[in-house]
Amino acid sequence: MLELDGVRAGYGSTPILRDVDLSVTEGEIVGVMGKNGVGKTTLIRTVMGQLEPTEGTVTFDGEDVTDRPPHERARLGMGYIPQAREIFPDLTVEQNLRMGETVNEGGDRLLYDEVFEYFPILAERRDQDGGTMSGGQQQMLAIARALVANPDLLLLDEPSEGIQPSIVEQISEDMRTINEELGTTILFVEQNLQVIRDMADRCYAMERGTLVDQLDGDALSDEDAIAEYLAV
Ligand SMILES: Nc1ncnc2c1ncn2[C@@H]1O[C@H](COP(=O)(O)OP(=O)(O)OP(=O)(O)O)[C@@H](O)[C@H]1O
Ligand SMILES: [Mg+2]
Repeated sequence: MLELDGVRAGYGSTPILRDVDLSVTEGEIVGVMGKNGVGKTTLIRTVMGQLEPTEGTVTFDGEDVTDRPPHERARLGMGYIPQAREIFPDLTVEQNLRMGETVNEGGDRLLYDEVFEYFPILAERRDQDGGTMSGGQQQMLAIARALVANPDLLLLDEPSEGIQPSIVEQISEDMRTINEELGTTILFVEQNLQVIRDMADRCYAMERGTLVDQLDGDALSDEDAIAEYLAV
């Protein structure tokens, strides 16, 4: 469904990503783990189209999208949950969710019922301003906003950041349920060991802007194998 081939990208004249080859198959949950500053956000932004590669290609659903801007990738079915979440604090929960409707144009339907089922707190608080919610609730709102238009691929940047552990665990579980029940493919980046273990079917390791390893199956249940690539 998603393929990066020989991707290089950076900011101005500063190269960050180098020779990134990554693929995600439909229905998978794939993680990319790495320490602070290795380039995880840069990778996710390059997939979404906020950063244009200086070399290499990004292919989505069989189509070369390397030169396509973010809003076109959204219409093709990419949903994006940025690291800072970026919900609209002065809009209500419901108004925030409506902002998500533009993703996946021509998609079959809107998923308000499902979103409120997975995140009942959003139904309870639908008339409350987004900015008054806790960090964990705002993360749920950001996920729900990206999910409401039924994207084919969800891009999730460090869902655990700044959120208390019990909610982090719940969000990992929710993402697995969404993947199983809706068939949504997920690519996420993280440096939280537990989230990687709980969520990923398969995980790449990133160091200094390049992918240096890939773990699945047994290796993903081996904490030491994961911790090698994290600051733990
Ligand atoms: N807008 C920017 N302009 C210039 N350099 C940037 C910019 N954003 C990030 N960088 C640099 O690019 C490198 C990779 O940053 P990136 O945000 O992708 O890392 P990360 O793995 O997401 O880190 P974290 O775990 O802290 O979120 C860092 O050296 C960072 O300082
Ligand atoms: Mg980041």
